[in-house]
Order: sequence, then C-alpha cells, then structure tokens
Amino acid sequence: MSGPAEIPTTRTASYEADPEHVHRVLLLYSGGLDTSVMLKWIQDAYHAEVVCLTVNLGQPGEDYEVIRGKAMALGALDCHVVDAREDFAGEYVARAIRANALYGGGYPLFTALGRPLIAKLAVDYARSSGCDTIAHGCTGKGNDQVRIEATVATLAPELKVIAPVRSWRMGREEEIAYAREHGIPIKTLPTQPGMEAAPYSIDDNLWGRSSEGRWIEDLAHAPEDDVFQLVTRPEQAPDEPETVELGFERGLPVSLNGARLGLVELIEATAEIAARHGVGIVDHIEDRIVGLKVRDIYEAPAAALILPAHQELEHLVCTIHQNQFKAQLDRQWAYLVYAGLWWEPLRADLDAYMDHVNTHVSGTIGLKLYKGHARVVTRASPNAVYDASLASFAESGGLFSQDASPGFIELWSLQSRMAWRLHNS
Ligand code: ARG
Repeated sequence: MSGPAEIPTTRTASYEADPEHVHRVLLLYSGGLDTSVMLKWIQDAYHAEVVCLTVNLGQPGEDYEVIRGKAMALGALDCHVVDAREDFAGEYVARAIRANALYGGGYPLFTALGRPLIAKLAVDYARSSGCDTIAHGCTGKGNDQVRIEATVATLAPELKVIAPVRSWRMGREEEIAYAREHGIPIKTLPTQPGMEAAPYSIDDNLWGRSSEGRWIEDLAHAPEDDVFQLVTRPEQAPDEPETVELGFERGLPVSLNGARLGLVELIEATAEIAARHGVGIVDHIEDRIVGLKVRDIYEAPAAALILPAHQELEHLVCTIHQNQFKAQLDRQWAYLVYAGLWWEPLRADLDAYMDHVNTHVSGTIGLKLYKGHARVVTRASPNAVYDASLASFAESGGLFSQDASPGFIELWSLQSRMAWRLHNS
C-alpha cells in the first residue's frame, strides 16, 4: 500500500463526521496495531490533529509510559493516560454485582461495562482538548462500536465520530504494510522474529478477559492451551482444594478471608486465587447486538467467585417472591448493558430496585475451589430469612404448624385438580 486509503464521503448517520468537519480528533488509543495505524492514518487522510486517550481499567501487564511514548512518536498532539480503575469498580462493576449480571448465562460483561466509561472519558477529554471528533478502533461487526457511539451520541451530540477500521477496508496484511511503511512498530512472535504475532483479538480489564478470532471461530475446535493467559488450566491447578470467604455489605464484597479491602484490590486478590485454581473459564457462544452469533473464550476469575457468592447471599436474605422477580430484572439489566444502552433510563430505574433489595445483602459466603470449580459451602447473614429450627424435619411450632399443611395443599392444588378432572374425564 502506498498512499492513505480514501476517506469515505457518504455519511450514513447524523453523528458520523463529514470529513471536512474533522480538524482535531480524540483517538481512543490502546497502543496496538489498529489504533497505531489509525493514529498515523487520521493525520494523513484527514490532515487533522490527533489527541490520544488511553484508559486504564485494570488490564494486566500494560506499560502506560511505553504506550504514551509510542503515541507521541507517531505524531500525537498529546496522549492522556487515565487511571479509571476506581470509577470502573465503584460505578460499573459494583452495579453488575448487585444485578448478578451475566449475559447469555455465562458472560460477566466486563467489556460491555468498560465501554460506556471509556466513551464518557473520551467525551470529557475531547471537550477539554478542543476536539470536534472522537475516533475508535472498533470494527463494524462487533458490539463495541454500538456501545461507544451510543454513548458519544447521547452525552455529546455536538461531537462527531469516525471509525476508520470500519470504513477503511484495510485487511490485516495491508495494515501491516502501512505500519512498516510509516515506521509503526509491530509486535513480533518471540519464536519467529520478523513474523508479526497473528494475535487473538483480546479485550481485558479488572473484571475479565476475552479472546476471539483464529481457531476460536471454528466451533468444532476445542480450546488450545495458549489462549489461557489469566486462568491456570484446571488440569494444572493445585491438587489441594482451597476455601475462601467473601464478606458482603449491602450487596458489595468488602472482605476476603476476613481482610477488609477496597473493591479494586478485592477484585484483584479474588481473581488471583480463583485463577490459581483454574476457576473462571467460559467457552461461550454469544448473540451479538448486530445479529451475529460468535464464540468467545472468557477468563473471568474474580467474577466466577464474586457473582455466585453474591447471588447465594441474596437468595438467603430475600423472599421467594423477591428472588423470582429479581432474576427477571437481572436478566433485563444484563441485556441492556450488553446491548450498549448504559445511559437508557430503564437501567437507572433497575439500579434503584437493585440497590433497594441489596440493602439487606450483608453476610459471608465461603466457597471451595478445586481444579476449575468453585462451590458455595458456607453461608452466614444476620438478615437470612432462615430459621434452623423451622427448617429441621422434626420440629413443629412457632411460625410453622404442620397441622396446617393438609389444608394448604387442598387449596393450593384446587385449580390444578379441577382442570385435571375436566381434561381427563
Ligand atoms: N463478546 C464480548 C462483548 O461483546 C467481548 C468483546 C471483546 N471486544 C473486543 N474488541 N475484542 O462484550
């Protein structure tokens, strides 16, 4: 490839930028190949200035000074690095915990929770650094474009969006050629220097890590070992089980094995223990917002302990009616957040309910971890709607009279008995 690919000129939506209005761009920059190529390409193709923003949501192993240095070397006007871990844990992950948030029965939404925060920060920094446009590196096939652009369009209607990866139609080979031509450093495989690492598509933060692409797209292909970068493979986990205790107050974890920790530290420490025991691997087929069905390999060790522990405690302190109802709201909450509608008022309405229910969710849950599994083994709460003497088989009296049971059964089954007789005679 020689000259920059052409800028598409047909605008398809009101919040997308017309090329002639793009003068200074806030680029969500990760330091990877796509966004590095974008950083150069936007300067070339739009003759625009680029300000970079890199957000730390607790993704392990990043060197933010190196990322910043790379952005500056590629001509960025500035590169802001923001540590948003506390905000992410306190305002996003905390709500997900109270809502027992799992999409499709297995995905704890870590990416979906991070995007509205990243996009909100992009809006803040775009405004404070005089940008007219926000650029991101999402493709046209994923959920992340929806989450980011819906956020920008909602919070900052005056800002426009460009998504070069979606519009430039450069394949990976062309991107690499463009990178070579423009002196953009490319990660190489340690085993084959000179060969660029053909990577999984990774996204990660404090709450989990996802891998897509390569053999993962072949549904018949069982996971290869090298995809697991966070969680020990269960067959290599310790031969001895380990029990951990999570303490909750008002629906949020506040202690691990008796030690009080802030949410960020608690998530990190919980993740480490779970990962050691091979807990938190999910091989997930997912219905994306844009219609596709895609496979993801998730590693979410902290969520694999905290979510079931929270749910167990909530079940213990709530009535059967609350438990049945909340499961429906939990599912709706997870779907809204998955589907990029964080700023939709229904999400805040649901959160008000979640918060109210969770005022009673305090206590301690013990989990036993062993070779890829975590199982709740102990529960304690001052708010448990539980009375050991009522629950035991032998006793009668107090709030429960066994003499009342036959009458209850007669009335409880009344309509079913009537219908049975009608349909079967
Ligand atoms: N399937 C997950 C989601 O839609 C994870 C996406 C990961 N994002 C990425 N750009 N690799 O939330």
